[in-house]
Amino acid sequence: MSTPVDPTTLIPGEKLTDHDYDGIREYDNPMPRWWVWTFWATFYFACFYVLFFHVRKDRSEVAAYNREMQAYYEQQTEELLKMGQIDEVLLATLYQTPSAMKEGADIFNKNCVSCHEPNGGGKIGPNLTDDHWLHGNTLMQLYATVRDGVNGKGMPQWSKKLRPDEVLKVAAFVGSLRGKNVDGGKAPEGKPLPIPPLPDTRKATKDAAPASK
Ligand code: HEC
Repeated sequence: MSTPVDPTTLIPGEKLTDHDYDGIREYDNPMPRWWVWTFWATFYFACFYVLFFHVRKDRSEVAAYNREMQAYYEQQTEELLKMGQIDEVLLATLYQTPSAMKEGADIFNKNCVSCHEPNGGGKIGPNLTDDHWLHGNTLMQLYATVRDGVNGKGMPQWSKKLRPDEVLKVAAFVGSLRGKNVDGGKAPEGKPLPIPPLPDTRKATKDAAPASK
């Protein structure tokens, strides 16, 4: 145990400040200079930082990231479209590309679940997991429905809201919902159709030739 210090005795060699609060005195122990300077430096840096990055929104890292991603997507769209005309083979290639399907799933979760439910079972829009279809179930037909929407029936025209590559990817993703027959899905609408087999995509990738008819 430490010996109790008598609070009324001054530690020798220490200075007191000149104020006195009802008999309570204070040792004069200012913060070291370097500490004070560092404090003010961080203070002014923070002011500058807030003005620089938050007042002008386009200088933030988020904005820079978004600009880079936008450029990347534009380039990717261009390359996708360069792969050839949009057809069953191009869509099947996406269907077999996990990264594209992951993006397709994200796009579906952001834009489609309000009407088609997260599992695709349908709510306002029809069940996308059963074997009944109103507008056909080849990847190309799914793509056409998503791109153009169904005028007057409540299915939006997604080419107006999504980038071309996003429409392709989400259509390919819908292709993966076919035949899942999720529990609690909406009653079938349209005609029963078997899932069409995927076209052979190996030729297109092997020869790196434009997907052709
Ligand atoms: C505002 C509600 C709504 C949203 C959001 C919506 N859909 Fe639809 N969707 C519908 C309706 C309603 C239909 C049925 C149209 C009809 O009756 O012809 C439909 C039909 C479809 C069909 C055709 C089904 C068939 O049986 O042929 C597909 C495929 C589809 N939607 C995919 C999507 C995708 C992918 C998205 C997101 C990018 C999406 N939908 C977002 C309402 C919506």
